[in-house]
Amino acid sequence: MEDERLAKQLDDILASNGSRDQVLRDAVRLIKDMRPEYNWAGVYLLEGDTLVLHNYIGPPTEHTRIPVGRGVCGAAVLEGSNQIVGDVTARDNYLACSLETRSEIVVLIRRGDLILGQIDIDSDRENAFDDRDERLLTLVADRLATII
Ligand code: SME
Repeated sequence: MEDERLAKQLDDILASNGSRDQVLRDAVRLIKDMRPEYNWAGVYLLEGDTLVLHNYIGPPTEHTRIPVGRGVCGAAVLEGSNQIVGDVTARDNYLACSLETRSEIVVLIRRGDLILGQIDIDSDRENAFDDRDERLLTLVADRLATII
């Protein structure tokens, strides 16, 4: 049911005739509100070899441009796979956004084999993310791929 409600809300955003930028901002708002554990939510778009932060909700971050291969975000693109990090303090390549962050999930936005960007979420709680988050966020990512 939660999936259906989320899909409906996304469809409403996509049908709103907003600009691409507005749709991406509305989608980040929707994602941020999905669970109280989501303390920071944002969308990065892939431009060449760099992830460029499109918009976010949460504490300010200095990581507005991340080269592919750097950090958890860059690793997702390099490896072509979503990332769930239960304890960010245990990752050497983690790029800290907020000192409070304990766990992170990155879900790629793809069109076929092409990576268009990603949804990135941080939580102040350790192990805040599991397969269910990945599944719901993939549902969002797949829809966003149609407008990027
Ligand atoms: N933690 C990410 C950087 C993005 S900030 O969390 C917003 C990383 O390691 O790539």
